[in-house]
Amino acid sequence: MTTPDRFSMDLIERPRRLRMNAILRGMVEETRLSAKDFIYPMFIEEGRKGRKDRQEVASMPGVHRQSIEAAIKEMEQCLSLGVRSVILFGIPEVKDALGSQAYAEKGIVQQAVRAAKKAFGSDLLVVTDVCLCEYTDHGHCAPVRGNEVLNDEGVAIHAQTALSHARAGADMVAPSDMMDGRVGAIRETLDDAGFSGLPIMAYSAKYASGFYGPFREAADSTPQFGDRRSYQMDPANSDEALREVELDIEEGADIVMVKPALPYLDIIRRVRETFGVPVAAYNVSGEYAMVKAAARLGWIDHDRVMMESLTSIKRAGASIILTYFAKDAAAILKDQ
Ligand code: PBG
Repeated sequence: MTTPDRFSMDLIERPRRLRMNAILRGMVEETRLSAKDFIYPMFIEEGRKGRKDRQEVASMPGVHRQSIEAAIKEMEQCLSLGVRSVILFGIPEVKDALGSQAYAEKGIVQQAVRAAKKAFGSDLLVVTDVCLCEYTDHGHCAPVRGNEVLNDEGVAIHAQTALSHARAGADMVAPSDMMDGRVGAIRETLDDAGFSGLPIMAYSAKYASGFYGPFREAADSTPQFGDRRSYQMDPANSDEALREVELDIEEGADIVMVKPALPYLDIIRRVRETFGVPVAAYNVSGEYAMVKAAARLGWIDHDRVMMESLTSIKRAGASIILTYFAKDAAAILKDQ
């Protein structure tokens, strides 16, 4: 085979030169994942005493609902792999209309935070998810009247919840409810109580997504009527995400989050380029479940797809990644 006469091979660019050697490829790598990027989500379930200490979530292989004792063991494992941060979700024994176990001083998350801080001190950054859907009997992220999800009533409860987490010793709070004005209310409540140094990571651009399905099984938080479209964002919107992020920053968010991650890489990139605050992305339960399921069927290479997904989230502009893959990925990074 020869090239056509009118095309001179002497003149072409040869980007392949930098891809020929593994060491050289490593040197020109633009995005580098690190275990330091990860926050590992954990589900702490009240009242597991007398039952098995932990139970795997069927649609999330490797992820468990577990007692505080079991969670402490898993945190130890995280630390040994270099994963130094977790975000805690609580599953209370009793749910009610207001989600009162969310802000109870002896609620499951408050107890778990105390235990984790006692066990690990400043070696582990303990983040708490601030939301009501795991705690309300109707499964919405704020109180309801008829079919209406009540914004301002929700904000007041979220502020109390964040404060109770702070009092338990949480290192950062992460409101995920998407009620308007909650970041400002949480900031003010924390400041008034002497927690002005406690950072807020806001779920700012959180979409009404089908990718949360497995989480709702894990956290037992499926809405009992309707859906979350009156508070979470429409997947079709991008400009609106910038508006949400802007508001959260104005209200006092230190870190802003985009969620889910992979179907919203364009949003991560826009937020990163528009604002000067660190961006987090939540690689959610459905994204995790799809990789696990396809890998089980032998249809994709688990580790390769996992690392490629996480790298793409970081490449898009996220500096923090909340992911159920944190331990798996950290183990691979450790070997490299
Ligand atoms: C609570 C909350 C949800 C997730 C994180 N916080 C569920 C939801 O909004 O329905 C989803 C996380 C995941 O899917 O991994 N509001």
